[in-house]
Amino acid sequence: MKKWLDIISGEMQVAFEAAGYGETEAGSRLGRVTLSNRPDLCEYQCNGAMAGAKKFRKAPLVIAGEVAEKLRDSRVFSQVEAVPPGFLNLKISGECLQEYLGEMRRAEKFGLEEPSKPRKIMIDYGGANVAKPLHVGHLRSAVIGESIKRICRYAGHEVIGDAHLGDWGLQMGLVILGIQERQPELVYFDDSYEGEYPSEPPFTISELEEIYPASSLKSKEDPEYKARAMEATYKLQTGVRGYRALWQHMMNVSVADLKKVYGSLNVEFDLWKGESDVRDLIPEMVQQMKDGGYAYISEGALVVDVKEETDTKEMPPCMILKSDGASLYNTSDLATILERMRLYHPDQIIYLTDKRQDLYFDQVFRCARKTGLVEPETQLKWIGFGTVNGKDGKPFKTRDGGVMRLEILIQETREEMLRKIREGREMSEEEAREVADMVAISALLYGDLSNQASKDYIFDIDRFTSFEGDTGPYILYTIVRIKSILAKYVEQGGSLDREEELELLAAAGEAQKQLMMQLSGFNAMMESASEEAAPHKVCAFIYDLANAFNHFYHETKILAEEDQAQKESLVALLLLTRDVLETCIHVLGFEAPEKM
Ligand code: ARG
Repeated sequence: MKKWLDIISGEMQVAFEAAGYGETEAGSRLGRVTLSNRPDLCEYQCNGAMAGAKKFRKAPLVIAGEVAEKLRDSRVFSQVEAVPPGFLNLKISGECLQEYLGEMRRAEKFGLEEPSKPRKIMIDYGGANVAKPLHVGHLRSAVIGESIKRICRYAGHEVIGDAHLGDWGLQMGLVILGIQERQPELVYFDDSYEGEYPSEPPFTISELEEIYPASSLKSKEDPEYKARAMEATYKLQTGVRGYRALWQHMMNVSVADLKKVYGSLNVEFDLWKGESDVRDLIPEMVQQMKDGGYAYISEGALVVDVKEETDTKEMPPCMILKSDGASLYNTSDLATILERMRLYHPDQIIYLTDKRQDLYFDQVFRCARKTGLVEPETQLKWIGFGTVNGKDGKPFKTRDGGVMRLEILIQETREEMLRKIREGREMSEEEAREVADMVAISALLYGDLSNQASKDYIFDIDRFTSFEGDTGPYILYTIVRIKSILAKYVEQGGSLDREEELELLAAAGEAQKQLMMQLSGFNAMMESASEEAAPHKVCAFIYDLANAFNHFYHETKILAEEDQAQKESLVALLLLTRDVLETCIHVLGFEAPEKM
């Protein structure tokens, strides 16, 4: 289905052409209509007369006046006014808007067209490390990545989400050594043992999570300990049985826990692959880079130059192997690209990490392109997000200054939400909890996603959990309000069984028209959110939509409407608003309760 602004721009363009202002410089169409900057004066505007003045050597106001004349009988515009210095102030015809929304109700996905070229997109997000707890720094990658996955999928692309676990390398050696220090008698460390290893892990998730920080600290203070950790890493990587078995336990315990935490944020990965999955591809990839003449030894390390002539900033070479032959963070990202191309052949790979990895991804992408790991048309996109800050503007911490665990953050948000839900509501304890959990997730997700990803934001639990303002709970509150009106409509004998038979009429009042105009922007908004991988666009749209709805609700009697056709039309509009809002929150990653 065509986009609403394209339809009205098309009508305007025809008028420009009819008035003799058709031919302009290549591609620029004077008839472009935009939302009005002066909603007090008009609904839409067109500035084409000003843009064409020079070319046609005429006063903009004259051009605008002639164009307005051509639109006198337009069925699209109910009002076209040429005003100094040459704006066209526009109002839309109620019938035309009504028809558009009618079509939108009947169309698939409310008129969002399938992409002309559907892409296969892989999203690398989450960034969790095995045996380490998720903390507040992991929130954004998970939440933004999940939403981009859902938006692109909804838009008609094939999308595969991959957790890309940090499950290999020195971090694993440190944990293994930490376990050995605590429980040296474990059979995994007995090189002469040939039997089966126990099926139960020798640690719980909380024990596991204590081990890494302690072991990592010790290795920084004690070179001998560090050497042992490197040896443990080596044993793991070369496949010593006991080490592999222990590692497998770490994976099982850790991934089960990660699934729980991610699950509570409605984050679901299609693939739980990790750095360890590409270990066997590294030698082959390195060989390929050497054979191609790209990789060379510099100060003992194997590197690939990624500088380009046009660079204005420093661009160090991409290091592939350290002088001791060990692989790096780079190496596994590059080998993962190789694996992804082989197994899935994506058209695009999108990465979500914090924005400090800017230079890093520039290097990795250039290296992948230069060495032919990807095809020239494969798109590699990195989205760097800003920091979650506390009210003091510094990275968010616990009250005593420690790193905030993601689980705790979720728990605290749930409790705050529960407190607010209990206030003045009659609900059983169980129901209140269930509702509070749903609303809390909306608070967290919306609080994050409503910001442009690259910006830092302040984690303000009071604001995020508020039922008023630009928040998740406000959006849910609006949806629940619509649901409750619809429920009353049914209680009073109305039927929603045949929604399609409820005819949507032209707007009866200004507030209703505003709501309808807001709804008409859905397909354009969703297409650009998907093309630009920008969930904040969905948030901005539903915030405006919720405001337009609530304004309409205050101005209009719905259930008390006496004219039956009019009442059914209002109900049809409620249904469309609810469905559009629910579709949008679903792609953001949360759902609305029935009551709250
Ligand atoms: N596990 C990494 C970390 O904790 C983040 C991984 C980001 N993704 C990537 N493909 N490099 O820092």
